Amino acid sequence: MATDETLNRLPDNLPDDPMHWADAWLKEAMASAAQRNPNAVTIVSVGDDGQPSARVVLCKQFVPDPGYFVFHTNYESRKATELAARPQSAALFHWDAIGRQIRFEGQVVRSPAEESDAYFASRYWGSQLGAWGSDQSKPIASKDALVIQIRERGESLGLSLADGTTRLQDDHVPTIARPANWGGMRFWAQAIELWIEGEDRIHDRGQWKREIVRSSEHTYTTTPWRGKRLQP
Ligand SMILES: Cc1cc2nc3c(=O)[nH]c(=O)nc-3n(C[C@H](O)[C@H](O)[C@H](O)COP(=O)(O)O)c2cc1C
Repeated sequence: MATDETLNRLPDNLPDDPMHWADAWLKEAMASAAQRNPNAVTIVSVGDDGQPSARVVLCKQFVPDPGYFVFHTNYESRKATELAARPQSAALFHWDAIGRQIRFEGQVVRSPAEESDAYFASRYWGSQLGAWGSDQSKPIASKDALVIQIRERGESLGLSLADGTTRLQDDHVPTIARPANWGGMRFWAQAIELWIEGEDRIHDRGQWKREIVRSSEHTYTTTPWRGKRLQP
């Protein structure tokens, strides 16, 4: 496990727990508040035509053992439909202010429904309404049409919204259930690279790989990590 002294360079003998290092880096980035969303991570998916695409999501849970992280999204979005067809993905965290990046390769599968339910229930009502209100990745005629759609869905959920807005009219917030098409996705790491910015571009790079084999709808069995140092 990484300690404060070891966080600024990788040890000569690379550790065998890179996911714990990644977890420590993410915690440090969150604590330092060096950027507005230190848990922002870019996720890649690939379409039927072989075209890769990338977008930022927020990492809401990091689980070093057995080695995955979780983001949440609309299961009918471009990313989720592409990942359902081709789970292979790449992901990237970058913290410019502290000179670090973490690259991942792996596979993405849905989180168990009860985990998504628990996370959805913990969200602010406005975020819950956002999940109901947007058919993510689908076209819409205008921003006004989007607001009308969100308002209609909000009212059918029992929210009283002020005229023409998506703001609450009173303090009453009904319990809002998770939409079936929204939930967590687990990014299971198969390869990880920890990168530390160095002076004169002498950066420190450690790369680790392991095998992962799907063992259930949400889980993989994994082998131990094997690491090597890479030139910058
Ligand atoms: C800082 C930031 C955080 C974001 N977080 C999420 C997120 O957690 N989940 C999500 O579905 N989209 C999130 N988005 C929006 C996505 O980048 C993207 O626009 C959206 O998911 C649709 O992508 P898709 O059409 O490729 O599926 C975020 C965007 C930014 C810039």
